[in-house]
Amino acid sequence: MISLNIDISKTAGLISKNELNLFEKETNLHFKSIYNKTGKGNDFLGWVDLPVNLSQSLIKSIENDAEKLKKSSDVVVVVGIGGSYLGSKAIIDALSNNFNQLLDKDERNAPLILFAGQNIDEDYMADLLKILDSKNYSIIVISKSGTTTEPAIAFRFLKNHIEKKYGKQEAKNRVIAITDEKKGALKKLSDNEGYTTYVIPDDVGGRYSVLTPVGLIPVAVAGFNIKQLIKGAENMQNHLKSEKQLNDNPAAIYAVTRNILYRKGKTIEIMANYCPRLATFTEWWKQLFGESEGKENKGLFPAGVNFTTDLHSLGQYIQEGIRNIFETVISVEKPKNQLIIPDDPDNLDGLNYISDKRISYVNKMAEKGTSMAHVDGDVPNIFIKLPEINEQTLGELIYFFEMSCALSGYILKVNPFDQPGVEAYKTNMFKLLGKPGL
Ligand code: PA5
Repeated sequence: MISLNIDISKTAGLISKNELNLFEKETNLHFKSIYNKTGKGNDFLGWVDLPVNLSQSLIKSIENDAEKLKKSSDVVVVVGIGGSYLGSKAIIDALSNNFNQLLDKDERNAPLILFAGQNIDEDYMADLLKILDSKNYSIIVISKSGTTTEPAIAFRFLKNHIEKKYGKQEAKNRVIAITDEKKGALKKLSDNEGYTTYVIPDDVGGRYSVLTPVGLIPVAVAGFNIKQLIKGAENMQNHLKSEKQLNDNPAAIYAVTRNILYRKGKTIEIMANYCPRLATFTEWWKQLFGESEGKENKGLFPAGVNFTTDLHSLGQYIQEGIRNIFETVISVEKPKNQLIIPDDPDNLDGLNYISDKRISYVNKMAEKGTSMAHVDGDVPNIFIKLPEINEQTLGELIYFFEMSCALSGYILKVNPFDQPGVEAYKTNMFKLLGKPGL
């Protein structure tokens, strides 16, 4: 049983039901090649069965180690870039209080999670080190290849800092490394230092790794229920596998719809949310689809907006700019809290017509009104609906997008599991830096 729902009725102007059904045979073939591991990039399909295959002993060990860091630390720095940080940050931000950084550890019931190694800005690192001088902290360092420059530089600074602060022996107890089972500089370093180490499976690529220790450890340390997260993903895994008809399979509906829109000139897909806690989820989605599909001079360009904030900036472009856009709206039914707009006897702001209404009601009307305007303005809308944001619904959403992305990449006839294009900047940067051996 899943709670996620997809609604493509607001694309009707451009897509007929008949058009969708023309993809039935093709999507079935692609599903087969995903499940039987026979398609492009089939070495990297380990994520497909991950939710069902995660062992109880791995989950227990993650929970135990997370508990240790929760007790020993007020701050935990997660070091990683791309797929090695976006997933955990997306989940933590979606589940956390909007003003998490201002809460005490007791109120949060968990350390504050900070991120590093996702940029090479000197001021970011200097500010972080200064903050950590006075904080009780630990580190989770994540790199599948174990050789990525950004997290390697950040970890070199942080390793020096934590060893100076706590001494080498105690520092060792405050570092968890997540990397390849056998190879890479981080693996070597972790073995040398004797860090607690977790493995990223060989057959799971970075951007599909959020349900491995890469995402699960930071999320558990942040105080969230990883069993519920996995349960949600497992429910979605089972559902997508059992629904053989395109029209009953939300991942197939999404993948096909966006490909039809793409073929009709809608080459930019904008993910929209009406809940600021989902802003980083959009970043995770952008990486997943951008890195998976943007190759061989093909692919939809994934962009993101946070509404209603961006209705007062990019909203103008979406309504009236170049008509090569469609939107995918993450629509959440129920917020966690209830706030009713108060009545004001003077009504100088003219808001009494909505007094006694919840803010969420106004937000919903903004969502409906925006969709009507954008669809009228030739911007088709796909709705992905969730009853609320919690660990289980996020688990569903993650697996839903992973499967949709694989399927969509196959419809586009690209390998959704490689990223040859990211090497170009690295080669130039290494040459400019004079890296030996080039
Ligand atoms: O999806 C991917 O494979 C990439 O975005 C990687 O996650 C990113 O480049 C970081 O790589 P690594 O984990 O090897 O440091």
